[in-house]
Amino acid sequence: MLYEGKAKKLFKTDDSKVLRVEYLDQATALNGARKDSIAGKGSLNNQITSHVFEQFTQMGIQNHFIGKISNHEQLIEALDMIPLEVVVRNVSAGSFSSRLAITEGEPLAFPVLEFYFKEDDLDDPIINEDHIKVLQIATEQEILTIKQEAHKINQALITLFHKINIRLIDFKIEFGKRADGTILLADEITPDTCRLWDEKTNDHLDKDVYRRDLGEIVPVYREVLDRLEKIIH
Ligand code: C5P
Repeated sequence: MLYEGKAKKLFKTDDSKVLRVEYLDQATALNGARKDSIAGKGSLNNQITSHVFEQFTQMGIQNHFIGKISNHEQLIEALDMIPLEVVVRNVSAGSFSSRLAITEGEPLAFPVLEFYFKEDDLDDPIINEDHIKVLQIATEQEILTIKQEAHKINQALITLFHKINIRLIDFKIEFGKRADGTILLADEITPDTCRLWDEKTNDHLDKDVYRRDLGEIVPVYREVLDRLEKIIH
């Protein structure tokens, strides 16, 4: 094992360029302060993110995904991860709503991009482009690439989720670098990392159900997977 995260374990394989990811039946909130085991969650997330990344590959959005090898495992390309959480917001919610006192559900005039420094000891602080450069997390050119990719991914996700009657409120993505310097989408895109609201009812189809104690998350994540599988062949 190479690394154990909050919801995944990473393993080396015989090929140094390939890693195996195991999605865990675990949910955390408040940067790990709250932790629960939820049977079935890992497999649902692995299946959901696999569908999303496969769609991206077909659309020409480069990413680390190689293939799903079981319901809770996938193979990915080994990358040098950039320690940033890139958040894109289409509608006010969560920390944006609380920090800026903007009602949750208020559409934003344009997609708002934020960077957080991925550093548990600091509780992942929000940072700006100067911070990223001065901390040598990424260069100006790399930041530009990340921003362009994030906006492209936002448009692709809005379209994908709209097809299944889901409104994409916001999401978090991460990027990694190949040895040749190419930057590509990595990590996961799941209801753990996106806010997804049912277009008709505004029901939360995402991890806010857990964070806010709104009910069981497994049926909700299953609903997202079922809807995706109806449109993906
Ligand atoms: O909490 P906040 O409003 O900043 O979250 C914005 C988006 O980023 C949400 O979709 C949330 O699920 C995601 N996120 C995440 N991992 C974090 C923080 C936020 O996936 N550590």
